[in-house]
Amino acid sequence: MSRKKTNYYVKLRDMYNLPIYTLRLPGSRLYVVNSPGLISAVQRQHKSLAFMPLAAKASINVSRFSKTASEIINTNTNGEEGDWGYVMTFNDAIHPALSPGTNLDAMNRVMLGLVAMSLNRLREQSVTKVKLHEWVKNQIALATTSSVYGPSNPYKDLGVETAFWTFTSGMTQLIIGVLPTWTAGEAIQALDFAADAFENYFRNNNHRSGAALVQARYKHSMEHHIPLNDIARSEVTNGIALLANTVPMTFWMLYHIYSDPEVLADCRNELLGIVSVSRGNKGKSTHTIDMSKVKTSCPMFLSTFKEVLRIYSTSVSARLVMEDHLLDNQYLLKKGSTVMMPSPVQHYSSVVWGPDNDTFDHRRFARSGKRPSAAGFRAFGGGTTLCPGRHFASTEIMAFVAVMIMQFDVKPTTGHWVRPSKNKVEFWESTASPDHDFEVEIRPREREAMEQEWAFTLSDLDQPIALSAEDLPLESR
Ligand code: HEM
Repeated sequence: MSRKKTNYYVKLRDMYNLPIYTLRLPGSRLYVVNSPGLISAVQRQHKSLAFMPLAAKASINVSRFSKTASEIINTNTNGEEGDWGYVMTFNDAIHPALSPGTNLDAMNRVMLGLVAMSLNRLREQSVTKVKLHEWVKNQIALATTSSVYGPSNPYKDLGVETAFWTFTSGMTQLIIGVLPTWTAGEAIQALDFAADAFENYFRNNNHRSGAALVQARYKHSMEHHIPLNDIARSEVTNGIALLANTVPMTFWMLYHIYSDPEVLADCRNELLGIVSVSRGNKGKSTHTIDMSKVKTSCPMFLSTFKEVLRIYSTSVSARLVMEDHLLDNQYLLKKGSTVMMPSPVQHYSSVVWGPDNDTFDHRRFARSGKRPSAAGFRAFGGGTTLCPGRHFASTEIMAFVAVMIMQFDVKPTTGHWVRPSKNKVEFWESTASPDHDFEVEIRPREREAMEQEWAFTLSDLDQPIALSAEDLPLESR
């Protein structure tokens, strides 16, 4: 398991072809679910097969909350005593800030403005040489966090951003929780440092100028009497949801588009069809991409994005067995064990995707009639724990990539593209990052491009795209 990571589950599926099987570890059992039908059955039993007690334990280990906060968070985690308590009410508190509608549009508009501004600035230099993954990481981190935290975004201090990434490097040891001060000392120091910055942010009421998301999270914690330093800690940990998947997915999408002239031409042609141009009085033209139209009129670009999600997702949805449970009236799951549903088992399945399931095909989702089964596409998980940030993240990734490919050519300084391996992914990561980074040259496409500005709009009637079975109308799931 530690060598092959999530590929291990795909290998066992191919060797034994079982709907569900048990991996015995000293003192515990892991039940790994392969069958899409059983995944749906697990997701329906969200009380007996629960996520929140696992999430509460992991968040306490990772955020290193005070005793007071840990007790509040660890109370009634599965709603045994009713729908109350910090954990039980958390999703309802934050969903309105992330669901399609006014709040999400407002956050998206700030993010889109920042992406456009940063890339407009980049065009003022004729050639920029950067390490591609590192550069994407900085760009996405600043645009995402500024749209959430507003003008006083703590991540604007490079020290805080660096501390956040140092913190994530100790995540595995923090989740395991065995002598963390020895095994993850540097990560703990970084967490404390970033938490201090967030404590100041909240103390100065800077969250009031942030997005609805940070305000909802703060209000929810205050209502449950979480101490301020713990609110700050949980905000640092929230950076994982905000950034840990968006960064590598953006990297891989850029990689696949720029490294293949056919993919690049397909995507550019589609985007060209929806760019509108207006001329300003100083002779500069503004090229505007309407992100709502990208979602409705660029099927191959959209398909490229979904194919990136399919190929690079490494998420393993987990559930704790709260009491002995007979799954689907057939399989006995013992109390205290863990149920695991690895997305690669579904994403690399010839039954769902055909014999070419392990190759990257940017047109896969654009072909008519090609729609995966409900449980076949799990980049954002599913059921009650379906990722609430999927619409925000999708708009951001597609906007960033769209404006990049319309304005810039990118090529490795070695002259040829080599796809990096992705074997270092840790068990808690839902997306694989590249194992190594490489240098690229970013260059504006045309000379007259220097005279152009780029911008985004989002129609008032912006519609979300279907990113999970839950986003489809009931009759077509
Ligand atoms: C491409 C980007 C992203 C990917 C691939 C992704 C993927 C996931 C996955 C696989 C899960 C676990 C679902 C499960 O176990 O069933 C999850 C949960 C979650 N995600 Fe995302 N995510 C992304 C971006 C975001 C963003 C930007 C936010 C916040 C703005 C976010 C917020 C969350 C939250 C709060 C949860 C926990 C849900 C719960 O506990 O019920 N995600 N995400």
